[in-house]
Amino acid sequence: MDLLIKNAKVLTMNESMDIIENGSITVRDDKIYYVSKEGVVPPDFSSANTIDAKGKLVMPGLINTHTHAAMSLLRNYADDMPLEKWLFEKMFPTEDKFTGEDVYWGAMLSIVEMIRTGTTTFADMYFFMEEVARAVEETGIRANLSRGLQCFDEQFDAETDKRLNEAKELFNNWNGKADGRIRVYLGPHSIYTCVPDYLREAANLAKELGTGIHIHLLETQKEAKDSIRNFGCTGVEHCLKLGVFDVPVIAAHCVHLSDNDLEILVKKKVSAAHNPGSNLKLGSGIARLPEMLSKGLNVCLGTDGAASNNNLDMFEEIRLSGLISKGFHLNPTLIDANEAVRMAVSNGAKALGIQDEVGVIRAGMKADLMIVDTNRVNYIPKNNVVSALAYSSNSLDVETVIVNGKVLMEGGQLKTIDEEKVIYQVEKRVKQLSGK
Ligand code: NI
Repeated sequence: MDLLIKNAKVLTMNESMDIIENGSITVRDDKIYYVSKEGVVPPDFSSANTIDAKGKLVMPGLINTHTHAAMSLLRNYADDMPLEKWLFEKMFPTEDKFTGEDVYWGAMLSIVEMIRTGTTTFADMYFFMEEVARAVEETGIRANLSRGLQCFDEQFDAETDKRLNEAKELFNNWNGKADGRIRVYLGPHSIYTCVPDYLREAANLAKELGTGIHIHLLETQKEAKDSIRNFGCTGVEHCLKLGVFDVPVIAAHCVHLSDNDLEILVKKKVSAAHNPGSNLKLGSGIARLPEMLSKGLNVCLGTDGAASNNNLDMFEEIRLSGLISKGFHLNPTLIDANEAVRMAVSNGAKALGIQDEVGVIRAGMKADLMIVDTNRVNYIPKNNVVSALAYSSNSLDVETVIVNGKVLMEGGQLKTIDEEKVIYQVEKRVKQLSGK
């Protein structure tokens, strides 16, 4: 059905960050059909379905390039601990008890939060990923999905390995599905949870399937030191040797990079998913963001799972990415508002290889949009809308979200999800899991 959004301020997110005052956007099927400057509507357009966005902002939806959606089940469950202890003593043992249904409802909870806070695409690494795919298909959001892979056994058999087989199956069943909204990557968890040959095997499989890789890389100082000790090289050099960078890669974190690592990542066109909230909360460190960007690395933003953040609010990551760099380097000119917003939209699209589909408002692109109510007091006076997004916005000001031409939330009302049911199911399951 045709959809018209009129009277909007449109942040196109094109190369020159053009803003259209009093713009109209017409959507036909899954695409942006026409963008006009003076409220002009194409004559063949039926505008029965109209959203009046007077005084509000329309822009491409945000892209969360690193998360573990179902980990919202573990939100506020174990905090204020070092990453290894948190992961091996708290997360992994509890996650072992999860059923497919638990993962489905955890993913649903996260999708509710993501839609409510303006995220239209997310990149997810977890297990029971068929269930996450089902949640993505039903809710209408867009996603890049990876079955998390780990293996501590040097003698593994690639033919019979359960995780590798599930990853293949996920790719065969879901890549390109849900009206093209789902892409499937491979998700070797990290260099410290995959023996080298297993990581090489994952890279080979990605090549064979013609897809990409989503991996955690150099998140903590311990990981960086262990890599030198165990492999005799940095984590980035290790991945390079094993062929990981021969396919498109989303490398989450990249906090502890050497100069040479940075050069390798740029040369191999790896995208770094910067997760400032998670890195701060887990005490992982502060990424070399200004240098990463100035050297030409594609840096995008992610929230990480809700157990390590503890929310999926991309507005927070936009703000943190700029503020940390300015404060840490005693330099307020670093990471300007444009750069911070770009990381959450255009760079995210590029990282997931969907920059020709989403991330810019122009005719022919997929209609993945959000409307932010910039009439609220924290946007007044309306001096600079990009600054407002980076510094004075609130994710709860997102009132309408459209993905693939379909309205998923309008005026704060979710259209494809029964939110009460999701909350009920999550509360019930978490009680069961904790034996209460
Ligand atoms: Ni993660």
